[in-house]
Formats: sequence, C-alpha cells, structure tokens
Amino acid sequence: MPDNRIAIGSDHAGRELKEQVKTLLEGLGFETVDFGTDDDCSVDYPDYGEKVSQAVSEGRYQRGILICGTGLGMSIVANKFPGVRATLCHDEYTARMSREHNDSNILVLGGRVLEKETALKIVRVWLETSFEGGRHERRLKKISTIEQRIINGL
Ligand code: RB5
Repeated sequence: MPDNRIAIGSDHAGRELKEQVKTLLEGLGFETVDFGTDDDCSVDYPDYGEKVSQAVSEGRYQRGILICGTGLGMSIVANKFPGVRATLCHDEYTARMSREHNDSNILVLGGRVLEKETALKIVRVWLETSFEGGRHERRLKKISTIEQRIINGL
C-alpha cells in the first residue's frame, strides 16, 4: 500500500527550503515527518542525513527528502545505508530520471544552489513519476548484489 508519509530532514543550509517543501507536500496531501534541524544554528549534516536514511533503510518510511547546502554531503551520507537510493537532482529531467531509471527513494536537494520554484518542481516530478522496471530493475539488482557483498565483507 502506498505510504503517504515522507521523512524529511536538513541541516541549517537546507532548512529554509525544507519548510517550503513541507508546505508543498502538505498541500498535496502528504504527511511530512520532520527529523530536524529546526532552526538556523549551524549543525552537521550527517546527523540529520543519518536519521532520515536509517528510517528509509529500515523500511519505516518508503520515501525521504534530504536538503543541505549543495546536496552533496547528504547524498554521501544517505547512500551509505543499505537499500537507500538517494539521488541529487538539479532540474525536472534529473528528477524524472531518478524515478524512472533509479527508483530513487530519497530525493536530495541543494538549498543554496536551487531557486525555490525549480526545487518545488523537482519535488512534484519526483513524487509523480513511477519506476520503469525492465532493464533498470536488472541494474538495481546489481547494486543490491554489490551492497550485499560489501556487508558480507567482500
Ligand atoms: C554547510 O556549510 C554545508 O557544508 C552543507 O550544507 C552541505 O552543502 C555539505 O555538503
């Protein structure tokens, strides 16, 4: 059954955009669960990236959104977690591809590099686009195999 809850988190550099994304999501009927940060005090993005990524990795949420200044740090953190396919998207095209080809389950945004309107368009496309399966399923299975090998000590 589709989960209409979205786990969301940011550091200080992503907080303003996170609030705008939450407003959009709630307007679209999604429930947002905010893992912080809650103010503009400087924090360390791995602390917030870990919370959301762990929640998705453990299957507590089907989808998550992470925002830092560039989106780079959050991407690095999120993709350490088994089963997480975190995709840093810059425009509607990368947002669509991240779902059709990569079955992205965490959308990563850069709060300091995206215009608000572009960021909100990315979120909409990411939510509305389905995974294509087929040859892309085979490629994702290869990623899971690599992940399992690493977990098992190669
Ligand atoms: C914070 O200054 C910044 O380094 C962080 O938000 C992010 O861009 C890291 O990748």
